[in-house]
This record gives sequence, C-alpha cells and structure tokens, in this order.
Amino acid sequence: DAVLVFNEGQPGRTDVVAGTLGTPKTVPVSGLSYEQGAEFVAAGTPTGTLTTDVESDLERSTYNVIADVPKSVLKKIKNPDQVVVVGAHLDSVAEGPGINDNGTGSAGILEIAKQLSSTGVYKGLQRPVRFAFWGAEELSLLGSEHYVATLPEDELSRIYANLNFDMIGSPNYARFVYDGDGSDGDPGPAGSGEIEKVFTDYFDSKGLASEPTAFDGRSDYGPFIAVGIPAGGLFTGAEGVKTPEQVALYGGTAGVAYDKCYHQACDDMTNINVNALNEMGDAAAFAVATLGLSKAGLYP
Ligand code: PHE
Ligand code: ZN
Ligand code: ZN
Ligand code: ZN
Repeated sequence: DAVLVFNEGQPGRTDVVAGTLGTPKTVPVSGLSYEQGAEFVAAGTPTGTLTTDVESDLERSTYNVIADVPKSVLKKIKNPDQVVVVGAHLDSVAEGPGINDNGTGSAGILEIAKQLSSTGVYKGLQRPVRFAFWGAEELSLLGSEHYVATLPEDELSRIYANLNFDMIGSPNYARFVYDGDGSDGDPGPAGSGEIEKVFTDYFDSKGLASEPTAFDGRSDYGPFIAVGIPAGGLFTGAEGVKTPEQVALYGGTAGVAYDKCYHQACDDMTNINVNALNEMGDAAAFAVATLGLSKAGLYP
C-alpha cells in the first residue's frame, strides 16, 4: 500500500515522499531525530514511526503518481493520441526537505492541474494532459526511467511531448529554458526546439529575460528524449554560480550559487524566491495550456 511520509523524522521538515516503508511500528513520536525515524501517515492519520535508520536499514518502494484527464473529458478530445505529459519529481534528497528541489516543481504542476479544472479550461483541450509526479528522481531518475521503460509501445507512441519542472524557485535565480534546439549545445529530439520556443516567446512577451540551459538528461525528461519524445522545461539553477552578466538580466548576486542550499538541509521554506516561482509557474502554466489547447499543434 502506498503511504505518504510527511515530516520525515525531522522537526520542521515538510517533504512528502510517496512510498512504503515496510510495516509501520507504533512508537512515540516525540524526540525524533532524522536517523531515528520516519513518521507514517496514511490517509491523513499518523499511524506510527520507525525506530531504525530509515536510510540504511530498509528497502523502500517508490511510486509515480500519475493523473489523467477523466474518461468523460478524454472522449471529447480531438487528438486523444497526442498526450502531453507534464512532470515533476516528488522526492527530495535525504539531506534536506527539498522545498526548491523539488517542492516547487511538484507544487507548481499540482496548481496547474487544479487551475485547469477550476477554470474550466480543460473543456477546450485538443489533446490529453497527463500529470506525472515522479518518484525517486534523486536515485538516478528511477521513477521516470521505470515509466518509460515499462510503458507499452502503443502507449509510448501516444506521447506528444514531455514538459519537466525541476527547481523553479531558486533563491538566486536565472530563467533557464531547456535547450531543445541545440543553440547551447544540447539539441533534443525533433519538436523540442518548438517547445523551447513556447517558453522563450512567453518570456519575451512579458519582457522577461531567459536563456538556454543544458538539455543533457539530468532530470526526468531524460528517459523521454532518449526514446525520441520531444521535451522541454524550466529551471532556475542549482549549484552553478551566477555571473555578472546574469545579474544584469535577473538581479541577484554574482559569484553566488543559484541555489546555495542545493541538496542541503537548508533547502527549506525560506529557500524559495517567490518572484521566481511566480514567473516560472506562470510560464509553465502557459506552456501546458499552449500544448493542450493549440488546434494546429506545435510541430510541423
Ligand atoms: N535534477 C537535478 C536534481 O534534482 C537538478 C537539475 C535539474 C540539475 C536540471 C541540472 C539541470 O538535483
Ligand atoms: Zn536534486
Ligand atoms: Zn530535482
Ligand atoms: Zn535553444
């Protein structure tokens, strides 16, 4: 059974991990340290904690959480075999809560899903939108690798595009767009350039600077481009260091990492740049809507 683990053993941690941790043992929750244990929460009710070292003593199962448009909506969609997969990884590294990496991306696509529904925009969809919350990205893209490797060929061939959002609220941010057309050295499969252009045209229209970033497979789009599915996405920077040129474009501090808390305990709620998350979230929503609603489609 899937179990959501919140506040994994550490006071103040807010990470959410989908998976099972064997059979929960019921012990008092007080005085936990990270090493001592994880709190089990099933269906919103704490069911117990674990007293062993959660990092080394257990085999864990991990899950992708996949959400499709309802069948009643799918029935009315013009191009049912052009599925737009919108993905973000749900896990974090064990060292920290993973709020920028990748609470921002997973919360971002969840909000887009909610808005698609509450605004009624889904009624105009020309192609299906599928939301994918990947498990275990930090363990070398386990969730997305598994998904692409095990999806039957006829289902794989229905995927029109993959959009990926991994770190979109970095404190010292830049507006990076995955380089789908090879202008920065990493061309994607045919179609990825068109996806890149959706993002860059959007930023241009808002008078916001952006630039291409490596499209080298370092996140969950990797397994998709490896099988030739066009992909694209956004990123606000990790351990890389901001240049003076980028400060001129985006503000922030030169000589400092885009995210100085990358993969550390300090990647907490205070590690978010709200402007970054707002701008990148809007761009992400724009791209989902463009791919979902465009009558002609993106590719020639
Ligand atoms: N995938 C990396 C992580 O989760 C972050 C990253 C994304 C780094 C894109 C480079 C490019 O840690
Ligand atoms: Zn990471
Ligand atoms: Zn990440
Ligand atoms: Zn490019």
